[in-house]
Amino acid sequence: MKRIVVLISGNGSNLQALIDQQQRGEGSWAICRVISNRQNAFGLTRAGQAGIPTSTLSLAAFKREHRGGGGGGEEGRAHFDRELARIIVKEEPQLVVCAGWMHILSAAFLDALAGIRIINLHPALPGQFNGAGAIRWAYDAWQRGECQQTGVMVHDVIALVDMGAPVLVRPVPFHPGDTLDQLEERIHLAEHAALVEAVEQIVHTL
Ligand code: GRF
Repeated sequence: MKRIVVLISGNGSNLQALIDQQQRGEGSWAICRVISNRQNAFGLTRAGQAGIPTSTLSLAAFKREHRGGGGGGEEGRAHFDRELARIIVKEEPQLVVCAGWMHILSAAFLDALAGIRIINLHPALPGQFNGAGAIRWAYDAWQRGECQQTGVMVHDVIALVDMGAPVLVRPVPFHPGDTLDQLEERIHLAEHAALVEAVEQIVHTL
């Protein structure tokens, strides 16, 4: 059975889509741990309800504890990345899934996980609207007539934010009269389906 670690920061609806799939799947993979960088992330409750072990790691706490490194928090961040890598490696996963994980993974962190596949879910098409706030960026661009289509993608994680090779891309149309909320809802549904499909696809290649 392939072992998967899921990284989250918030609501965890994408984590829930994976939990639901795991529960109805044929047992070729399982989420062995959920890690959140926010203590109050609802995704931690979802994991707990499914009996999945959880860890919480707060960057702010690491920055408080390690104040050296010129005051920019670099030393705290380096310690955070090392601890995050340590917890993940200990799980011996074949796959790490960033599902709404709002923390940039450093090159040092990625080096520590060499050999473990890491994927990220992003609510935009490749090359469009990298980084946080992608759904709103796309909505605003559509309103200005500068964007005709948005979408979601699952991509491999590299040191550049949201820039790794796409694994799976699903376009999402704008509908006439769309509000931002309506677009967001459609994007989230597309994300849930895309993430499950990508994980099923990848697990069989590991
Ligand atoms: C998703 O839109 C994800 O792509 C973005 O943050 C959101 C997380 O949603 N980066 P959830 O926590 O899985 O509900």
